[in-house]
Amino acid sequence: MEIKKSDFVKSAVFEADYPEPINNLEFAFVGRSNVGKSSLINSLTNRKKMARTSKTPGRTQLINYFIINDETYLVDLPGYGFAKVPKAVKQAWGNTMERYLASKRSKLVFVLLDIRRVPSGEDLEMLEWLDYYDVPYKIIFTKVDKMSNNEKFKQLKDIRKKIEFKNSDVLFYSALSHKGREELAEYLDEALEE
Ligand code: GTP
Ligand code: MG
Repeated sequence: MEIKKSDFVKSAVFEADYPEPINNLEFAFVGRSNVGKSSLINSLTNRKKMARTSKTPGRTQLINYFIINDETYLVDLPGYGFAKVPKAVKQAWGNTMERYLASKRSKLVFVLLDIRRVPSGEDLEMLEWLDYYDVPYKIIFTKVDKMSNNEKFKQLKDIRKKIEFKNSDVLFYSALSHKGREELAEYLDEALEE
């Protein structure tokens, strides 16, 4: 898929606010705050500032819907695991995210994991939750530009102590160099064709 056209559609909190589904499949991006969800969406769509990014975790607090090629939506979800906000606020973001994941929207969820970190308890909970509720998902390791191949190899070994996966089952992405963009775009295509 070549993403020729992309636009912000709307922000949402409740299911009633989600836009009318198109194509019966949409793609959502989850992961801890600062993992690079919004940056990946910008990279994938070749837009610099469509999704707001920030050095400060907790930038995306609402569900943000983007439309690509008038064909499907990309859904930027609030991040989890960000300590520096009041508990009540964190809970509100968490609820917004969970409501989306538990909704009947037909979706494929991309779980973003920072390649430099061993998955946190919350990352593992997210994966277990998706497994339990049978929500289809795919792992994307982000910020791969920050590591040499050698470091990556070692790091993946450590990550494997927490989660099982084959390299061929996951995607690797750099929003900086756009490495992994073609693979991801192709993956979206295949998912839409199924
Ligand atoms: P929240 O909205 O808080 O949940 O964060 P997010 O997951 O949307 O992260 P965001 O895209 O805002 O990126 C967080 C920071 O990481 C920013 O400073 C980005 O520039 C940086 N970043 C994101 N992706 C990459 C990447 O692939 N490589 C590098 N080097 N930096 C990245
Ligand atoms: Mg964001």
